[in-house]
Amino acid sequence: MSYLKVLDDSQRYKLDSSDDQLFYQEPRFVHHLDQPFRNRLTQLYRDRIPPCAVVLDLMSSWVSHLPDDISYEKVIGHGLNEDELASNPRFESYWLQNLNKDQKLPLTDESVDVVLIVAGWQYLQQPEAVASELYRVTRRKGSMIVAFSNRMFFSKAPQIWTDYGDLDHLNYVSSVATAQGWKTSELIMEDTYKTGLMGLMGSKGDPFLAAICCKE
Ligand SMILES: C[S@@+](CC[C@H](N)C(=O)[O-])C[C@H]1O[C@@H](n2cnc3c(N)ncnc32)[C@H](O)[C@@H]1O
Repeated sequence: MSYLKVLDDSQRYKLDSSDDQLFYQEPRFVHHLDQPFRNRLTQLYRDRIPPCAVVLDLMSSWVSHLPDDISYEKVIGHGLNEDELASNPRFESYWLQNLNKDQKLPLTDESVDVVLIVAGWQYLQQPEAVASELYRVTRRKGSMIVAFSNRMFFSKAPQIWTDYGDLDHLNYVSSVATAQGWKTSELIMEDTYKTGLMGLMGSKGDPFLAAICCKE
């Protein structure tokens, strides 16, 4: 597997170096992001993912945040907890793989149209190899949408994430992806607002950040 290194080893360091599979061995049937964030994400997917797409939801759980009323050609899931992935109603198939141990994906070249990563990139210690593999499995004109907010499991995130802020995170995702051949087409950084009266009064939800990268 060939890829261009962007991080040095100290930037890959995280406080909890135990096997990530242990951390995820119990299912968490919770939402990691609030409703305003999830609404914004689903809207982005509605706008950007054609129904004919083969979608790969990498680093997923029991929810994929895709619009309920759109059926895609195929949705493939990946994550670290069997019960969560088995409960995700969108997946036609899924597999488990610790990406900090092994980055080679069990997918053929150019077999996917859109890759999604939600609140997951922040846990990658070898993001260059993962981005390179995602580039390999994505078809030309395909895309990768990396979305996240300002939350994390702190002890599981490498230093390159814990030491920096939201805008740095966006630029970091983009720099790793472009080093592997992706073109960054859009960086989104927005406030979200609660629904109803609270939102009208300015009450904010989780900040919404997304890097959209394309394979030309
Ligand atoms: C905060 S959850 C987000 C899950 C899902 N994308 C969502 O939006 O609810 C982080 C996810 O990253 C994935 N993950 C974390 N560390 C991982 C690793 N070392 N290898 C593979 N996946 C990992 C797991 O699937 C975990 O559920």
